[in-house]
Amino acid sequence: TERTLVLIKPDGVARNLTGTILGRIETKGYTLVDLKLMSATRELLEEHYAEHVGKPFYEPLVEFMLSGPIVAAVFEGQRVIEGFRSLAGSTEPTAAAPGTIRGDFGRDWGLKVQQNLVHGSDSAESAAREIGIWFSAS
Ligand code: GTP
Ligand code: MG
Repeated sequence: TERTLVLIKPDGVARNLTGTILGRIETKGYTLVDLKLMSATRELLEEHYAEHVGKPFYEPLVEFMLSGPIVAAVFEGQRVIEGFRSLAGSTEPTAAAPGTIRGDFGRDWGLKVQQNLVHGSDSAESAAREIGIWFSAS
């Protein structure tokens, strides 16, 4: 069975949406297998967002992810990687479909980064890599 890394980004935690977001994932039928509230470091984010280093939104993204606590979670289930990305909705919260996490709770705040509440791994390889980054030896 498959696992994915879910992050509730600082906007989601600050808006007290942690329980609601975790609840949606559980209600869908996926099983929570690890969970913590933590603050990221620049080093951790550089690893996590390695594919985006150098892009125009990279620095605002890192600043945003450093702006407050993050909830890191691992969920398990058949096809959970695809299933969670479907629950999350498309990257841009204005365009994300209603019924999705980003579509129901997100909007454009006029900032330099998409504050879009959640992250989910996009492949089995990413999930293994990202779970290792966020849950290494802790
Ligand atoms: P994650 O689940 O967070 O990885 O979202 P994603 O897979 O839908 O997006 P992607 O991995 O491409 O980008 C990571 C994050 O960078 C996004 O969630 C946004 O917060 C931000 N981001 C991505 N693309 C853009 C962009 O074109 N402009 C801005 N301002 N932010 C972006
Ligand atoms: Mg991504």
